[in-house]
Amino acid sequence: MASPYASPYALSFLLLLLSVPAVFFLAPRLLLPKTLPAIPDADETEDLALFRRAVLLSAAPAPPAPATSGSLFGRRAHQAQPPKVAFLFLTNSDLVFAPLWEKFFAGHHGLLNLYVHADPSAVLSIPPTPSFRGRIIRGNKATARASATLISAARRLLATALLDDPANHFFALLSQSCVPLHPFPTLYRALVTDNNAGTGRHRHRSFIEILDSEDTLPARYVARGDDAMLPEVPFDRFRVGSQFFVLAKRHAVMVVRDRRLWNKFKAPCLVKSRDSCYPEEHYFPTLLDMQDPDGCTKYTLTRVNWTDAVGGHPHTYQPEEVSGDLIRDLRKSNGTYSHMFARKFAPQALGPLMEIADSVILRG
Ligand SMILES: *[C@@H]1O[C@H](CO)[C@@H](O)[C@H](O)[C@H]1NC(C)=O
Ligand SMILES: *[C@@H]1O[C@H](CO)[C@@H](O)[C@H](O)[C@H]1NC(C)=O
Repeated sequence: MASPYASPYALSFLLLLLSVPAVFFLAPRLLLPKTLPAIPDADETEDLALFRRAVLLSAAPAPPAPATSGSLFGRRAHQAQPPKVAFLFLTNSDLVFAPLWEKFFAGHHGLLNLYVHADPSAVLSIPPTPSFRGRIIRGNKATARASATLISAARRLLATALLDDPANHFFALLSQSCVPLHPFPTLYRALVTDNNAGTGRHRHRSFIEILDSEDTLPARYVARGDDAMLPEVPFDRFRVGSQFFVLAKRHAVMVVRDRRLWNKFKAPCLVKSRDSCYPEEHYFPTLLDMQDPDGCTKYTLTRVNWTDAVGGHPHTYQPEEVSGDLIRDLRKSNGTYSHMFARKFAPQALGPLMEIADSVILRG
């Protein structure tokens, strides 16, 4: 009664049975990557060329040091260019707060420049605000969470600003959800007059948060593998801080020049460590703390509210929360200076923010 086909079927069945364990063992290795996507080599090469040019230019003989005492404004005629603040906007969406920033910049264009690094997917319909027009930098690449692309984008902004205007002296990294908390002259005065009082050396400091004992550090340190950061970054040198900072020029050059730490931080995280992968919160504080700890304030000027944070996103202020009292509250800080910027604000908060711009934000 045996069917003539039984035997071949049995054989295939046997082969199938045998291959099941093989598939189980090999599939995860062959089909599922163990790491998140790496930065494409072509992007790296292009960045390297840009960074080299920026470092070369910055190493060229500098013009006389800018005067930092006496009147900060209105004495440009007989002096070297005053130091300028480069505002670096890193965005993956439209810059809806451009009208507010425009108000903040108004009347101070001789003391600032701005640059926008927008994700190629961002639909930019920047309102007719003169400061932002034509400031989109070339060579923009896609940025994504849990990858070193946010570091690359920040370094591209720094390099572009270094190349664009040698007078750029302070480099403020901002996102599309950041807003100013004080008028421009208040920020400018804080940056220019802060000079490491007490050391006797006139050096501007960078306003960058540098923390060394957060609970998240161990998991984040091994996000690329247990020993992946060695020997360049031992665990006791690994730092964390907000990715939003204001760097002094020598530190901007330091960051753009660096290849040693970048080679470590650009390595993709393991897939299983995705939730501990925030390289942009570690690269800058770790690098600066290794190379010039005394030149950094160790706190940021950008206020953020981590109460009830969800999925790594801080509290986002909604239009109904915006008030003069909120702005005054957000300014308060434990540092020498009050906070100059805050995040995150929902796009719909623009209207209420514009209403209190003249009476609160740009006053005092
Ligand atoms: C921070 O956010 C929480 C809600 O997540 C809110 O209750 C609190 O008022 C906020 N703090 C400030 C200073 O705005
Ligand atoms: C200031 O420090 C105190 C005590 O460490 C802390 O509770 C408070 O949140 C800090 N305030 C700000 C604005 O950082």
